[in-house]
Amino acid sequence: MSGLIPQHFIDDLIARADIVEVVGKRVQLKKAGREFKACCPFHDEKTPSFTVSPSKGFYHCFGCGAHGTALGFLMEFEHLNFVEAVESLAHSMGMEVPRDEGQRPARRYDELFELMGRLEHYYQAQLKASDPAVEYLKARGIDGATAKRFGIGYAPQGWDNVTRQFGTSREALERLLAVGQVIRKDSGSHYDRFRDRIMFPIRDARGRCIGFGGRIMGDEQPKYLNTSDTVLFHKRQELYGLYEARQALRDIEQLVVVEGYMDVVGLARHGVDFAVATLGTATTDEHLNRVFRLCDNVSFCFDGDRAGRAAAWKALQTALPHIREGRQVRFVFLPDGQDPDSYVQRHGAAAFVAALDGGTPLSDFLIDELASQVDLQSVDGRARLAELAKPLVSQLPAGVYRELLIERLATTVGLSSAKLEALLSRGAKPPRGTAQAPGKSRLAPRPPTAGRPSVVRRAITLLMHFPGAAANLDVDQLDGVNKPGVDLLRELIEMLKKEPTMTTAGLLERWRQREEGRHLGKLATVELPEGEGFDPGVELSDCLRRLALAGARERIEFLIEKQKLNQLTEAERAELRRLGRNSASNG
Ligand code: UTP
Ligand code: MN
Repeated sequence: MSGLIPQHFIDDLIARADIVEVVGKRVQLKKAGREFKACCPFHDEKTPSFTVSPSKGFYHCFGCGAHGTALGFLMEFEHLNFVEAVESLAHSMGMEVPRDEGQRPARRYDELFELMGRLEHYYQAQLKASDPAVEYLKARGIDGATAKRFGIGYAPQGWDNVTRQFGTSREALERLLAVGQVIRKDSGSHYDRFRDRIMFPIRDARGRCIGFGGRIMGDEQPKYLNTSDTVLFHKRQELYGLYEARQALRDIEQLVVVEGYMDVVGLARHGVDFAVATLGTATTDEHLNRVFRLCDNVSFCFDGDRAGRAAAWKALQTALPHIREGRQVRFVFLPDGQDPDSYVQRHGAAAFVAALDGGTPLSDFLIDELASQVDLQSVDGRARLAELAKPLVSQLPAGVYRELLIERLATTVGLSSAKLEALLSRGAKPPRGTAQAPGKSRLAPRPPTAGRPSVVRRAITLLMHFPGAAANLDVDQLDGVNKPGVDLLRELIEMLKKEPTMTTAGLLERWRQREEGRHLGKLATVELPEGEGFDPGVELSDCLRRLALAGARERIEFLIEKQKLNQLTEAERAELRRLGRNSASNG
């Protein structure tokens, strides 16, 4: 396989694919109105919250948040990479995948995976040949069986072991660069990235090595070196040990998220097979999607120091949107100076599991942490606590869990739940259509927009749901509008005007490779009111009109500032008069 898959082919594939058929072949679907429903294949559930929309070409689970196109579904369900999913979908539809042969092949996945496999074996062989490395692992309590299970290896001393062994041609060197194993100097020569380090292979869901973590044996810095992000490896998404846990366990009942490679390996050595580690990053949304797809019981066990507590608080914030009834999230704080590895070595697996069972539930951690920041004895302090809780509670999906948390917060601050609820939702959703009081200056400071969805966001959400509604929009209205996301909005409208038949799925595939793609995917899952009288075209025009108005206001403010300094040109004076008139007649 070589060459890029042309975008028009992917557009076409997505336009023609029947997501109901793709999903229906693998999951029992039931018709429900215009959509289809099923119990979600990506998490355990008894009542169906997995929905497939044939018109959008899009699936979404309201339970676990999984969502995507037919291609995304194949990638998740069949554990395929993008190219494989395209091949598979095309094949099932009797289509041949064309390649842009002219271009340099951008994806040589098969070759790269194969190279990673050879590197992994090379490092493993080097471990056997190195007494100091074997001694180091023994001294850290790792036995041969555990080392083998995790495929631990050793990168020997020297600057050119890998380069000499695997980089024998120009192409071979390019591949080593692509998987992050060698570094290219300005002079054009190459040297090994990992030298004299214990090597931990990081695996994808299918067990293929996609990167490495390397630990120095002495006290040098950095202690750990990870593969930089490559086409195979995205450290914000991967969890070390997840593949190994799935291998070891038939059913995953719980997972514990820890911070280090050695924590995972040390725990596994003692029979705690359900630990996974983030790779030197904070816990991300992708991490949580992965773990919650496998089980409902997740603990975070970080070091018992200040940094550990801060990491836990960050994890809590990331976890809030993932909370559902039936999901259990706990935080475990080990005694200061200990990490999961040292704890299990000292106290054994039973004590560690007991520590997990006795972990602090998310709701307790949230309330305790906030309470510690205010003086609960004072009225001010309690009001402040409600204020601090607001942005956090608003992250929780509506439901019993949220109700219960509000009830507990209410008790803590000494208010009725109803009152607190009112307080919490204040400012979250401004009542629609409330115009500014008449007579007030149009240039008066506008209310802060933080905390409520911006107009740009609303417009993009509407487009993701109703791509057809872009047809009558006037993109020129966005000229001079200077707000986050406006460029993306403009790009979407322009694309949809050019390709009026594009569906939600088509848009998502166009944006798959881009940073904003994930964002668009999330907006496509937002629930929109589609009741009587709801017209996405009208709503969208309204959004654009409001943005244009905001743009004009900013320009007016700018010109007025200039006017004060007596620096207006004749043209600007005319512009100011015109803008003032228009904004007065539009506001
Ligand atoms: P720790 O320093 O807590 O390491 O880093 P640890 O797991 O206790 O390691 P040992 O027991 O001394 O071997 C935790 C994690 O942070 C990342 C690594 O992913 C590591 O496992 N890290 C740490 C780095 O990426 N680079 C570093 O230099 C240090
Ligand atoms: Mn440690």
